[in-house]
Amino acid sequence: MRNPDLAATRRDLMIGTAASAAAVAAPCAAGAQTATTTGPAKAAGAAAMSKVSFTVNGEARTLELDTRTSLLDALREHLQLTGTKKGCDHGQCGACTAMVNGRRINTCLTLAVMHEGDSITTVEGLGSPDNLHPMQAAFVRHDGYQCGYCTPGQICSSVAVLEEIKAGIPSHVTADLTAVPQATAEEIRERMSGNICRCGAYSNIIDAITEVAGRPA
Ligand code: FES
Ligand code: FES
Repeated sequence: MRNPDLAATRRDLMIGTAASAAAVAAPCAAGAQTATTTGPAKAAGAAAMSKVSFTVNGEARTLELDTRTSLLDALREHLQLTGTKKGCDHGQCGACTAMVNGRRINTCLTLAVMHEGDSITTVEGLGSPDNLHPMQAAFVRHDGYQCGYCTPGQICSSVAVLEEIKAGIPSHVTADLTAVPQATAEEIRERMSGNICRCGAYSNIIDAITEVAGRPA
């Protein structure tokens, strides 16, 4: 049988809880209103600008940038170096690969203002149509692309991969950590795994890199 005292207690509890929730929500709603009123005005004037100087393809460049600008956007939108491509903008495809101080990086994952004094090399700095870098020439010879969208990133990555191997930096598939790694197809595949090619030109890309590494393709 239902206990009327218990029912009353439960009802009182629910009323009390609803009242507390309303009391907590009221200041939040007021705050939200304040944020809505002041938010856009603040956002419009909030961009923090900063100067950054670095070298791009051997040329000294100084930019005044919103501090949130990625290195990728600085290259493409501010320096019109559109060879470096934006694929995912999330560090997952490698289309934006360039070299900073000789090491390859995903330029979409780093802020331009973090590169004060750095030396940046993009695909435009490797070679020109009249004077191709050996890796660019090998990609052409081996048909290492179809649409070409991933190609600048693939080429920058490839150049850096061979430098990493030469420098003795091991990869996940390097079996003997005491020996100098070799530019085998397995090593190249592993080291290039961050560069996605939607056209599936992988086998020709491996052939091109293998040739530049001085091994039979
Ligand atoms: Fe940078 Fe895809 S655009 S990794
Ligand atoms: Fe088209 Fe690689 S050549 S995505």
